[in-house]
Amino acid sequence: MLESTTGFLRCVKCHSKLELDAFKIENEIVEGILECKKCKLVFPIIEKIPIMWDDFSNYLSNRKTLSGRLYQSAITEKMKSFLKSSLSKVVFIDDRTFLEERWSKIYQNSRHSKFYSLIKNSLESLPKSNLVLEHGCSIGIMTLFLADSSKMVFGIDKSFSALRFAKKSYKDNLDYVLADSLSPVFAKLQFDLVIALNILELIEPLELLKHVSKQISSGFFVISDPYDFDRGANSVRKPLDEQQLRTNLEKFGFKIFPKTKNPSYIPWNLKLNPRATLNYRVDLIIANKSTS
Ligand SMILES: C[S@@+](CC[C@H](N)C(=O)[O-])C[C@H]1O[C@@H](n2cnc3c(N)ncnc32)[C@H](O)[C@@H]1O
Ligand SMILES: [Zn+2]
Repeated sequence: MLESTTGFLRCVKCHSKLELDAFKIENEIVEGILECKKCKLVFPIIEKIPIMWDDFSNYLSNRKTLSGRLYQSAITEKMKSFLKSSLSKVVFIDDRTFLEERWSKIYQNSRHSKFYSLIKNSLESLPKSNLVLEHGCSIGIMTLFLADSSKMVFGIDKSFSALRFAKKSYKDNLDYVLADSLSPVFAKLQFDLVIALNILELIEPLELLKHVSKQISSGFFVISDPYDFDRGANSVRKPLDEQQLRTNLEKFGFKIFPKTKNPSYIPWNLKLNPRATLNYRVDLIIANKSTS
């Protein structure tokens, strides 16, 4: 985590500023703790990734294998003892480690999909931004690209495995935060550009739109989705179709670019393994809000 990121992050419980206690610093913070002096919540920074979960033990309880590995690979005694005490409170209920690792690999193998170059072209047509946020950034394909033309770019994702890969590309204006996109990790910070690609199946769509609409008072929102909502027990409660997505964006004060008023069918091919590819056709919307 870049040291300067401390100034952007807020406590996800009480929205207060955080204090950094760095245990190991290289060109950025490798291990450390962010502490909320007000509500006393602490957020560990492990392998350069700040884990902004309101309950760290709860995050680990769904990632048994990752928990053991984090403990084994901790560098400093301070982090080892922090992890030991967090692990002593964990009741393991699930192990998402391998699922998250598998998807991180799929995105690595699919990063040359034409989809990303098409989105890059669309982003290049927008004015340069100061502050950018990507929700559900995974391995950071677009986040890294946006860092070339923006002053500061953040990616949020809840997969440690994906962010560990994203963190391999260092830039002094690019950083990643492990958090739930809907949490107030940036509190009232306003962004010039927010992007959210293919995450409506995983994050309650209306809540995401409401959340993003509060993060932009004057700026752009780029959102894409394949509307693949049929996921049984894991489905979101209120899926949105291509028309409902547009209508709701307008309700939240966004103006949709004329060229994305009609739904599109952009190919997005994910290489699952050498013999199987998932071929989506993705809709893209570019919208903006302006104060004038
Ligand atoms: C289908 S992938 C899309 C990845 C990337 N946006 C792309 O289009 O290549 C969804 C990503 O959202 C992340 N994710 C799911 N729920 C999330 C949440 N509540 N908060 C933050 N990230 C989340 C997943 O870990 C995953 O990396
Ligand atoms: Zn707090």
